[in-house]
Amino acid sequence: MSISPDLCLLPMRSSWSFGSLLAVAKVFAQLTQDELAPLLSGLEDGLDHTQLLEKRVPLMTDDPTVAPLIDLQVWAPPVVPKHSLSCTVELLKHTFGEGSYNTPAIVSYTPPTDEACGVAGQWSAVSMNLTYDRLGVIWRTSSAEPTKTGTIWTTVKDVTHFLPLFAQAGDFMMDFSNIVDSGLLLDGAFDVIISATFYQGARSPHAADIIIPLSNLASNVANYFSIDSDAGATVNVTVPESATEAYVEIVCSGNSAEEFWYTNTPDEFLNAFPSETGLIGKGPFREVQVLVDGQLAGVVWPFAVIYTGGITPSNWRPLTSYGAYDAPTYWVDATPFIPLLVDQSKAHTITLLVRGQGSSPSINYNWWVSGSLHLRNSTSKTSGSILSYNVPDLNIKTTGLVSSGNETVTTNVVASRSLRIESEIVNGGKKKRVVFSQDLKYSNDARYVDEGWVQWVNQSTIGTSESKHSGQTVLRDAFDYPLRVASNYSLYTMQYGSYGSEIWQSYIRALQSPTEIYKSYLLKEHSKGEIGMDAWPGLRHAINGTGSNEQTFAYVDGSAGTYFRDIATKNDAYTKDRVWGSLKGANPPVPDNQIMPEGGPGFRKRETRTALRGCPN
Ligand SMILES: *[C@@H]1O[C@H](CO)[C@@H](O)[C@H](O)[C@H]1NC(C)=O
Ligand SMILES: *[C@@H]1O[C@H](CO)[C@@H](O)[C@H](O)[C@H]1NC(C)=O
Ligand SMILES: *[C@@H]1O[C@H](CO)[C@@H](O)[C@H](O)[C@H]1NC(C)=O
Ligand SMILES: *[C@@H]1O[C@H](CO)[C@@H](O)[C@H](O)[C@H]1NC(C)=O
Ligand SMILES: *[C@@H]1O[C@H](CO)[C@@H](O)[C@H](O)[C@H]1NC(C)=O
Ligand SMILES: *[C@@H]1O[C@H](CO)[C@@H](O)[C@H](O)[C@H]1NC(C)=O
Ligand SMILES: *[C@@H]1O[C@H](CO)[C@@H](O)[C@H](O)[C@H]1NC(C)=O
Repeated sequence: MSISPDLCLLPMRSSWSFGSLLAVAKVFAQLTQDELAPLLSGLEDGLDHTQLLEKRVPLMTDDPTVAPLIDLQVWAPPVVPKHSLSCTVELLKHTFGEGSYNTPAIVSYTPPTDEACGVAGQWSAVSMNLTYDRLGVIWRTSSAEPTKTGTIWTTVKDVTHFLPLFAQAGDFMMDFSNIVDSGLLLDGAFDVIISATFYQGARSPHAADIIIPLSNLASNVANYFSIDSDAGATVNVTVPESATEAYVEIVCSGNSAEEFWYTNTPDEFLNAFPSETGLIGKGPFREVQVLVDGQLAGVVWPFAVIYTGGITPSNWRPLTSYGAYDAPTYWVDATPFIPLLVDQSKAHTITLLVRGQGSSPSINYNWWVSGSLHLRNSTSKTSGSILSYNVPDLNIKTTGLVSSGNETVTTNVVASRSLRIESEIVNGGKKKRVVFSQDLKYSNDARYVDEGWVQWVNQSTIGTSESKHSGQTVLRDAFDYPLRVASNYSLYTMQYGSYGSEIWQSYIRALQSPTEIYKSYLLKEHSKGEIGMDAWPGLRHAINGTGSNEQTFAYVDGSAGTYFRDIATKNDAYTKDRVWGSLKGANPPVPDNQIMPEGGPGFRKRETRTALRGCPN
């Protein structure tokens, strides 16, 4: 990309179009034409008829009847039956205030007994609604028109494949660490309501029979592993001798010095920059590995989820980056290891670990990783053997150039990996061939100027993971995750300094998960923003900010569900939002009174009033 002198100062160009979306899809496509075509043609149907929206009631107003700002991540509605009886029950209602770090809310859960819910565990679908209501004000104008209202957001998630867990009584825990901190402009309390809707009908044929959590299983703190060593985290698992299939679902996110792992600098080049710039080492490549009994079973090359405070917070308000409220998960078929796992004479383990590019350890502090093992059970003993285990080492190469006087530094990391594991599984007198394979490619180009205060990163992660059982595809994950980040901190260490970024990111994925119906996604996003700061050195605050974000989203699933969205924000307000497709009703556009075609006023902090809690409503 070109060095744009207007990087942080001008409103975003609106040159981004369907044409460039198509180009991205073509260049990076791992998806077959059959997978891509419905996404692209669905988008085309709607994008051509963009009309100007009339001027609406602005958000920034004294009028207390104006609804709170709706914060959202674009999401595809869950797949639920249209005509079946259902019941909705509240699972948890809790207020997370300051001090809620590492203090999750825990409530006991029992399967619903209401008649409309049907027989526990026999649901055709289960969806979960997470609604957050931040009753404070994060952003504030300095004009005579303070925002009187808070912010609210809802995500509805398809959790049908966790059906075996919902069928049992247990504790339900929600951790909300890392969100409420007035020093970071994240003031106010969060009211969280989680409810689940259970749909009657024939039990979902996709959900597994047994789910074994892969987590620390702590009863009082969040249930993920915090990983900062190369050893990762190991769980003992007991798999019934009659199990026939085993799939590992992984959730992973970089945190702290690993939050922006894709911008971390290879150690070989770290000393080209003064330490004051604060660049973080151990390189930008990360691989999450799944090991069964110590043997590598499969890997995850994750999509870079940028959280709401990430890189430049004003880029993401009120439209977050993809995955910020509902991170993608990944699958490894561990069925080829069933012959080992069903052996009751030995103990078995599953290990989750993260590999970076540094040495001892290869990653910084830290990654949050957890998962679940989804098993299918049978009525007879299973046996079999691993026929071939072809898992060569990762190919990875780092190169780069340092210009004279260290003025410009460029680095390049390329990686690839292919693996193939084949087993024979015998159950009930029948033999089954199981082949799990992965074919992945990665590259990361970075360029730095101004002692590392300005950085451009282009990252590409593409690949296919596939599993066939007796020739039938049970898992196919074809993905492209291009990411381009330009960040400029040149004026960061200045009184009234500022910083900003421009980010392009796509999430293009066709996923046949082993426990859900086929789902395909094509999301493209372009955001840009700048934050102004006060004092330096010493305690400083963000005092003002601008930001914009444009996203188009296409979703097509295996039960003819479609969902398309064309949405944009500028300076704290939605400038447009159009939704079409068969699932439109389940996740409609934001109300008209939230649309301000010219954008909002941006963020401005009133210096005279820093305590933002308890604003009149
Ligand atoms: C990133 O990609 C853009 C667009 O293709 C290109 O202009 C730019 O030079 C690339 N930047 C780096 C650091 O490779
Ligand atoms: C970084 O931002 C500053 C302030 O906006 C600007 O003067 C400078 O040209 C930018 N640097 C680059 C390389 O774009
Ligand atoms: C989700 O829950 C919230 C709060 O209970 C409710 O207002 C909203 O209508 C629900 N949304 C959906 C799609 O069920
Ligand atoms: C797992 O099993 C081993 C023995 O096989 C035991 O030493 C270890 O403590 C167990 N780990 C956990 C977390 O229970
Ligand atoms: C310039 O980079 C080299 C490594 O390429 C490093 O040894 C040197 O210390 C750097 N100079 C400065 C002033 O940072
Ligand atoms: C798995 O199936 C076997 C045989 O039908 C049964 O005895 C066992 O209880 C099942 N295991 C679980 C954890 O459901
Ligand atoms: C933020 O405030 C500073 C100091 O008043 C001003 O120079 C700058 O232009 C403002 N930036 C934005 C984005 O409003």
